[in-house]
Amino acid sequence: MAQVMDLQTFMKERKKLVEDALFSYMNDVEAPQVLVESMIYSLKAGGKRLRPLLVLATLNSFGKSEKLGLPVACAVEMIHTYSLIHDDLPSMDDDDYRRGKPTNHKVYGEAMAILAGDALLTYSFEVMEDLLNQGVSPIKVVTLMKELSKASGPIGMVGGQVADMEGEGKALALEDLEYIHRNKTGKLLGYSIVAGAILGDATEEQISKLYAFADHLGLAFQIRDDILDIEGDAEKIGKPIGSDTLNEKVTYPSLLTMGGAKEKLEYHIYEAKRLLADIPLESDLLSQLCDLIAKRDH
Ligand code: IPE
Ligand code: IPE
Ligand code: MG
Ligand code: MG
Ligand code: MG
Repeated sequence: MAQVMDLQTFMKERKKLVEDALFSYMNDVEAPQVLVESMIYSLKAGGKRLRPLLVLATLNSFGKSEKLGLPVACAVEMIHTYSLIHDDLPSMDDDDYRRGKPTNHKVYGEAMAILAGDALLTYSFEVMEDLLNQGVSPIKVVTLMKELSKASGPIGMVGGQVADMEGEGKALALEDLEYIHRNKTGKLLGYSIVAGAILGDATEEQISKLYAFADHLGLAFQIRDDILDIEGDAEKIGKPIGSDTLNEKVTYPSLLTMGGAKEKLEYHIYEAKRLLADIPLESDLLSQLCDLIAKRDH
């Protein structure tokens, strides 16, 4: 049975669990000191750990031990952190602050920031191998690795980042913007949910319904990110606002107006929750996470 608890308690407790695991994996890395330091600098900068929490919340929904999800949770957080280090580079969004601290390249220089990102990406797959020590079958581990690679690579995050970059200064249609948001952000969030479901022995039907749920949730998450880039409080979000306007990005508010963007956000959250309610699952935590994503101020 899933453990019923309120989201705040869940997040606080599980965040610590994830961070302990994350830094214990980092302790095992024998590599040039500056590289390890630079990787840990960005990992420690203090993100919300939303993707790891989604892995654990999904496992919880399936009534499974959340510990089982820690290697996946850490791997996803490493890939996410790498994507942020590269996203902030001068050749990309050129941002100086992230998670409330100077960006990785501001501290370690561009070359080391690129390499720290590369190292986080590649190390994440080594971390996934730890699933075998938890008794997860080799076939499941390969499936989880393949899905992680798909969500992160050319048909996922990297593809979305390219489309985002190529779209700068252009007039995009809503469907182009959806492609960008779905890929640069949605796919990794979706993976976190689906990976939790795979580890939780979900049926094919549950997995395909969770994909549809996660698609709406991922779009909602990035729409909120676009809104916060205009209306957010830089202190709270830990990064400067106005980066999208400066880089001539097409965003939901720029395309649909702020009111239109907020309507779309509500629509995707509504759809996500509607689809979730249709899955036979103890999904209260995931439903509370939807509300949190809709209203988040950082
Ligand atoms: C920021 O992600 C980048 C996007 C994909 C929109 P988060 O808002 O999850 O960043 P952290 O991990 O909490 O710093
Ligand atoms: C970046 O989107 C998403 C990834 C890093 C893959 P943004 O460029 O909008 O993220 P922020 O606003 O810098 O966090
Ligand atoms: Mg960007
Ligand atoms: Mg950015
Ligand atoms: Mg943004």
